[in-house]
Amino acid sequence: MSKTRILTGITTTGTPHLGNFAGAIGPAIEATRRNPEAEFFFFLADYHALIKCQEPERVQRSRLEVAATWLALGLDPERVCFYRQSDIPEIPELTWLLTCVTAKGLMNRAHAYKAAVQENLDSGDADPDRGVTMGLFSYPILMAADILMFNARKVPVGKDQTQHLEMARDIAQRFNHIYGEHFVLPEAVVEDDAAVLAGLDGRKMSKSYNNTIPLFVSAKELRKLVMRIVTNSQLPGEPKDPDGSTLFQIYQAFASADETAAIRVRYAEGIAWGEMKQVLFEKLDSVLAGPREHYAALISDPAALERILLAGADKARAIASPFLAGLRAATGLRKLG
Ligand code: TRP
Repeated sequence: MSKTRILTGITTTGTPHLGNFAGAIGPAIEATRRNPEAEFFFFLADYHALIKCQEPERVQRSRLEVAATWLALGLDPERVCFYRQSDIPEIPELTWLLTCVTAKGLMNRAHAYKAAVQENLDSGDADPDRGVTMGLFSYPILMAADILMFNARKVPVGKDQTQHLEMARDIAQRFNHIYGEHFVLPEAVVEDDAAVLAGLDGRKMSKSYNNTIPLFVSAKELRKLVMRIVTNSQLPGEPKDPDGSTLFQIYQAFASADETAAIRVRYAEGIAWGEMKQVLFEKLDSVLAGPREHYAALISDPAALERILLAGADKARAIASPFLAGLRAATGLRKLG
């Protein structure tokens, strides 16, 4: 039996934050240690980044930061396939083969596209497609190619991505139906709610809300940001509800079960918000201090990172290239003689 393939990508448009760690990167690295049987593919979705961000410096910086973050947090590039999407020319090539079997109507139903259209309609714009590029419209096809290129069976993603996984299955089925059974149907593995961290203002921690705590700021900056996390106006000594408290939720994502249980008791005893912020800062700093140093070393040697990513691309292409050759042949793009 072939090994289960697990694949996920991170779009390189921003600086990795605590929410990325708790929701995606941490569990993914954990999974590589827990599942010696599985094969892992982790990649920087930098073609996807171009859909959202047309600032070259920012895209470039984010690729460096995201790559360094995975490695600083302990990803072993020997154990997994760790690469940049844009280093695998087979991916855009497969995207085209898939584009030709994808119904336009399927893409019309994609949440991200519909939201953009709705925004135009709401603002009274005469053109519902204003500001919508073909990249945004076809985003789910590129994502399907990322996944189907390696016949990944499991795809850990946030809840907001489950529709994209359904579309990848649809597209795979369509291709299989026309050209024969080439693709495994992928499944989303959705993180649980607890892993979706709240940010400084209590909304979901996200670069789009500008409420993030970056993973690798200095201890001083980290402390400053933790002190800015919004709390309610309960006084020291008043019993507090840990569930629904951003401070508690972040603490829980970084602490052991025993430590978390102990803090639950302190909430019941009425720990002051100021003190809880100090407790949270110390926890975060103790977990992140080691990786922070590793991160600084990695960031200061981009050429070494480049070599690691290119070695990952070689591994990925050794799989992608023969597989794509078979797909091309299946569609009729074959040698003439
Ligand atoms: N769209 C994903 C996100 O924004 C990133 C991504 C791109 C991805 N390609 C993927 C995730 C393939 C999983 C599999 O989070």
